[in-house]
Amino acid sequence: MANIAMLGYGVVGSGVAELISRNRYKFKDELDEELVISKILVRNVDKHLNNKNRGLLTENIEDIFNEKVDIIVEAMGGLNPSYEYIKRALNMKKHVVTANKDLMAERGYELLQLAKKNGVTIHFEASVGGGIPILKSMNECLVGNEIKSIRSILNGTTNFILSKMSHNGMSYEEALKLAQELGFAEANPESDVKGYDAARKLSILSTIAYNRRVEWKDINIEGITQIDSDDFRYAKMKKCSIKLLGISKISEDDIYAAVMPVMVKQDSMLGKIENEYNAILVEGDAVGDVMFSGKGAGMFPTASAVFADIADIVENKREKTITFSSEKASINKSWDLKSKWLLRIKTQNRVEIIESISSSFKSCYILSNSVSGNKKEVVAFVNADNEDLIDDYIKKVKSEKHAQFVKKLLVLDK
Ligand code: NAP
Ligand code: HSE
Repeated sequence: MANIAMLGYGVVGSGVAELISRNRYKFKDELDEELVISKILVRNVDKHLNNKNRGLLTENIEDIFNEKVDIIVEAMGGLNPSYEYIKRALNMKKHVVTANKDLMAERGYELLQLAKKNGVTIHFEASVGGGIPILKSMNECLVGNEIKSIRSILNGTTNFILSKMSHNGMSYEEALKLAQELGFAEANPESDVKGYDAARKLSILSTIAYNRRVEWKDINIEGITQIDSDDFRYAKMKKCSIKLLGISKISEDDIYAAVMPVMVKQDSMLGKIENEYNAILVEGDAVGDVMFSGKGAGMFPTASAVFADIADIVENKREKTITFSSEKASINKSWDLKSKWLLRIKTQNRVEIIESISSSFKSCYILSNSVSGNKKEVVAFVNADNEDLIDDYIKKVKSEKHAQFVKKLLVLDK
């Protein structure tokens, strides 16, 4: 019998419990193992009074750390007490499965080391890309490649919001509320909309991809809170969608890593990813481009990834577990490829700003009017060799030309 104790019975935890129940006898014939949940920790048992698993729920952590438990599944979220509970589980030589990217991005190295020391494993497939089997694919199927770059949509909530704002005319607030009701958003949705969740996932992915630790706090992070309906109209002019992308790219000296809203061609691989779907476009030296996509959030897609980790442990595939390098990566925060950028500049000096854009960028297209008809806004698409040139220009117009507000958006043609 494989005895499983669970921490958390919310969106993910309840989906995992259901999949364990559906697959209880999956390994019976081959391995003579039956999957059994011993206990499930929640904060408040009374919230779940009418639930069919009511009898398994407990508010007492001591009920979880039972001698007979083989695997602890963590689906509580947050850093603490999840960190303390997982450490305790590993020290008791229990295998751990977690969906917690906050914890793995912050403490993954230490927890993986602790698991190794105790001869057990910590699996975390669900922490990146929800139901997409991306970590295992990177670790096993792409093992013969040097990974060159990752371009990805890693947050279901923000992709859902951007899709609903762009195609259904929903407001940001309405779309966020719906994403919360559907169980996609984090307990604190700031982490979704400000880009932190995507940055944590990008750090986990990039750490595995480049075999160097990419700390999420070193990543340049911009969320979607500044995106407005006019941005979608400018994007459509260029046949683009707006996506919150997590991008990383290795060079000789360092790793570029950023999370930011980007205009991507509507008919490109990432441009077609809508709603809570995620996608990860990996460039390997041998394989070329490989795209992984699927539902990045929600009860059963996430439970599917957690269950696969449980299955790996039951089938004893631990020799293939993921490790994080002890070497920290040096991070470059500036996009260094020649690209197009959208600039939106709010100013009282329209003529002066138009002149300064024309003289600062060899190649630019300045719109005669903003889409809203706002006379105090200058809108242009400019080409620049790298992001530093754009940032220098923004600094200059803010100080010398008294621009009140400048927004920039990278446009990716491919
Ligand atoms: P959730 O719906 O808010 O559920 C959290 C569960 O944990 C609840 O059952 C809650 O108890 C319990 N809990 C929280 N803090 C606790 C504490 N201190 N002591 C005891 N129990 C506690 O969260 P979720 O959406 O399932 O997310 C869980 C984890 O999975 C997070 O790390 C999240 O980032 C990750 N994840 C979520 C998704 C998704 O689509 N939702 C996808 C991938 C990964 P009560 O029931 O009593 O409140
Ligand atoms: N809040 C996360 C998202 C859940 O929207 O992608 C999945 O990790």
